Formats: sequence, C-alpha cells, structure tokens
Amino acid sequence: MSNSTEPPVYTLAEGRPVQDPTTQVVLRGPKVRGGGLALLEDTQLIETLAHFPRERIPERVVHAKAAGAWGEFEVTHDITDITSAKLFNEVGKKTKVLARISTVAGEKGSSDTARDIRGWAVKFFTEEGNYDIVGNDLPVFFIRDPIKFPSLNRSHKRHPQTNVPDASMFWDFHNNNQEGVHCLMQLFGGRGVPASLRNVNGFGNHTFKYGKPEDGTFKYVKIHFKPEAGIKNLTDEESVRLAGEEPDYHVKDMYNAIERGEYPVWTMYLQVMDPKEAETYRWNIFDITKTWPHKDYPLIPVGKLTLNKNPDNFFQDIEQAAFSPSNLVPGIGPSADIMLHARMFSYPDAARYRVGPNYQQLPCNRALHVYSPYQRDGPMRIDGNYGGDPDYVRSSFRKIQTGPADVAHDEWVGKVSAYTSDVTDEDFEQPRDLWKIFKKNGEDKEFIHNLCGHLKNAVSEVQKETIKMFARVDEEIGKLIEQRLKELDHKKSDHMPSKKSK
Ligand code: HEM
Repeated sequence: MSNSTEPPVYTLAEGRPVQDPTTQVVLRGPKVRGGGLALLEDTQLIETLAHFPRERIPERVVHAKAAGAWGEFEVTHDITDITSAKLFNEVGKKTKVLARISTVAGEKGSSDTARDIRGWAVKFFTEEGNYDIVGNDLPVFFIRDPIKFPSLNRSHKRHPQTNVPDASMFWDFHNNNQEGVHCLMQLFGGRGVPASLRNVNGFGNHTFKYGKPEDGTFKYVKIHFKPEAGIKNLTDEESVRLAGEEPDYHVKDMYNAIERGEYPVWTMYLQVMDPKEAETYRWNIFDITKTWPHKDYPLIPVGKLTLNKNPDNFFQDIEQAAFSPSNLVPGIGPSADIMLHARMFSYPDAARYRVGPNYQQLPCNRALHVYSPYQRDGPMRIDGNYGGDPDYVRSSFRKIQTGPADVAHDEWVGKVSAYTSDVTDEDFEQPRDLWKIFKKNGEDKEFIHNLCGHLKNAVSEVQKETIKMFARVDEEIGKLIEQRLKELDHKKSDHMPSKKSK
C-alpha cells in the first residue's frame, strides 16, 4: 500500500487506471429499458469475480485458528558452554521472530476458548538460517508414535457421518491409546483453557540436542517459555460462555494488547541433561508423553521473547507462515525421537501443499541469508531463481562454501529399541504424581468437573472404558468420574453417538 497522503489511483491488477470500480460494462439494446448483456471484454468484472474464489488457500489441517505477531528474542544468559548456535552467542544479542499461537482441533473460524491444546510456534530469523520451535502450551503430548497422528486428530474433529465433534469417538480413541492419559489430565485440568494467549506456557516438547559441532559435545535439552504475565486460565463455564459471545476472544486480546504497547513477554529456559545421565535416567527421554521433573533438571534461563508488532496483513504474514521442527541451525539438532523425525518431514510437506513449493521465498518465511541453488523453478518463483548459477552439485564453474557440521546424531541411549506404543504402568506414574498435585492444589474437583462435562456426551460403553483408564492412574479418579457421571446422567445430552456402522 502506498504511504503517500494522496489517495491511490485505482487500477486493474496489471496497473491500468480504471474509471469506476463499482460498475460492469453493459451492452444495452436500443429498444428495451434496463437489462443488457455482459461483455467478455470487461476485464475488470472478470478479474474481480475470478480472483475472489481463489482468495483461499487450504487452512492448516490442524492448528487452523490462531493469532500471530512479530517480535524479538534477546539473550539474557550465557549458554555458550552448551551450544555454539550463533543466535545464543552473546548476552544482549537480539533476533527477529515471528510467532503464531493456535488452537488445534477447530477450523479457522472456530472458537478461541475451546478446551484444547494451544500450539506455540516461533520462528527465529538467525544469521545461520531460520530456527523454529513448534511446540504446545502443555509439556506432554497424546501419542508417541507418529503413525497415530491423523487418527488422533480425526477423533478430536468432526464425526465422518454427523459432521459434529463427537465425545464417543474422542474418548474411544484415548481409551485404546492410553499413552495419552498424562496429556488428557493436563487438558482437563485447570490449564485446559487459558485466560489469554499472553498467559500460556510454550514448550518445545521433544528432547533436542544443543551442542558444539566443533568439539563434538552436546547436551539433551527440553525447552520452556514462561509468560511474564503468569499462567491464567478460564473455568469451563467462562470458556463456554465466551465461545458463544466472543468466539475470537483470544485473537482480539493479543492484537489489542500489542496495539496498546502491552507486549506479551516470555522467558526462555532450558532443562539440560548430560548424555551420560540419559542412559540411566528413569524415563525414556525420547518419549513425548513424559516430562523431566524440575527437581531432577531445574530450569536454566536463556533469554526473553517479546511480541511487539502486529502483522500488517494477517493472510500474508501469518496464514502463509510455515513453521517446521526441521528448521534447525548449526549447534541445534534433533534427538532420537521418532515423533520429531516424522514431524520434520510433515511440516514442509504440508507447506508445499498449503502454500506452494516456493513458500520459503515469502517474507514471513524467508531466511536472512539463503543460497540454495539446487532448488530451482517451481510456481511463483520471485527471487531471481539464482540466475545462471549452476543448478547441479559439484560444478567447477561456481564454487560454493559449506557450513559447519551438524550436532552429531550418533548417540543412542536408553530404551530406544523398546520404543513402541505399548502402554505399561510406567505411563501412569507421572499422571499419578499429577493427581497428587491436583489434590494438593485443590484442582482435583475442577478436573473431574471438566472431564465429566465432556465425557457425559459419550455412549456408556465408551464411558466405562474411560473410567477404567483413569482408575489405572488412581482408583479414586475412576470412582469420582463414575459418581459424577451418575449425577449428570439425567441431564445427558442428545448428542449423536458415533456407534452405528452398517
Ligand atoms: C501444525 C503434523 C505433532 C505442534 C501441524 C501441521 C501438520 C502437523 C501437518 C500443519 C502445518 C501447516 O499446514 O503449516 C504433525 C504430525 C505430528 C505432529 C505428523 C506427529 C507426528 C505435533 C506435536 C506438537 C505439534 C507433538 C507440539 C508438541 C504443532 C503446531 C502447529 C502444528 C504448534 C501449528 C504451526 C503453525 O502455527 O503454523 N502439525 N504434528 N504437532 N503442529 Fe503438529
């Protein structure tokens, strides 16, 4: 858009000034009043109508609804003993970021205050390429085998026949994939619906390697972002009311706060584990359904993330943004977590489909320095396409310099070979500890209330299995759910069950 104070001259898309943007060209007959014939030569009408149905790109298959903003990350603590990633190499160093905070299951127009995980994605535009942290506001996830990801999400979305979210299929999925019980406890606990997006944690969730390729050392890390404004949440009742009254409650809140100059700020922390310790640690550190208790691995501060600029245009800056856990920089590497590896494939794959194969050239995704001449052509190429530079490797006509080595991927620890979806009692230990915390904080009643408010809509066979699953965490939870469902039974909703199949 022009910044001139003169009003802009309205033109066709190819620049031809037009006399009237509000009328089509009509061929009128001499005899009859009114009516007429449209003309194929009316380029204005044709381009106006033809562009409109092409205004949409596919929404994200998950995490479609979001707020987003630009900002900066500032290093506040020295972690150069852990990683040589240049983004962290100096206290006071600032890096531009783009962040997107989303709900998962709902469509692009769905309500912000749904009980759901919040996606927490940040792209750091570093001198060594883009570094993306694509995590969630809860520290653990529902599954640990990537092949279940589409099933998990379908069970949280709309029933294929009724086109309505369906509690029976939601709980049926989880009853039969109980590695998610830890995440379910967090989702139905007090933190399942945040008061605002400024009040959520951000987690990297997976275990990553932060290291120094030059000397071959690395540490395993878990990444945490804690909001300066503190964690604040909505009750089930508030969230249901707001879902009707203000479906865009969170998106508006974040936009308005940034406009007012009340910038959302998070502190970044790391939990740091030596690879030797990983070999004997009691939890499989590559299992995304488990946390590392803070008493074992305390939080080490790293820096401050501030979101200080709303997008000038949401579609251009946020809808077309493409985050991916595969965007890592020298000094940061993936761990041996198969979920992470699958995600490293899936996000760029989704972006090629959703935005197009040259999505990395858009300003919201473009790295500060890129020389990638073996990716050429494709639709909408706009960056010069590397001119006449060789498009094949090892050309003698134009030499290239190469970058540093990756953080080695050669350390295999713990129970990697036993890494499957099989659920054992170990999967109930951390949920059991969480139940104790809920009881200590007085969050236990709220958990049962929130959970039964959802589970009451499932068919009774499914409810029984869910009760059994939570009884594996603690007999008391099973009993409390059973009791509460009985109380709610007379109010049972007429929600369409997912049971029937021909
Ligand atoms: C979005 C796949 C697990 C966090 C997406 C998208 C896909 C996807 C295809 C849409 C991307 C796009 O259209 O740009 C997967 C697969 C997973 C997985 C295959 C498991 C194997 C996870 C986990 C987390 C997560 C474990 C966090 C702990 C996110 C976030 C977004 C997202 C935050 C939204 C990114 C944005 O704002 O653009 N995921 N996902 N996902 N996923 Fe996952």
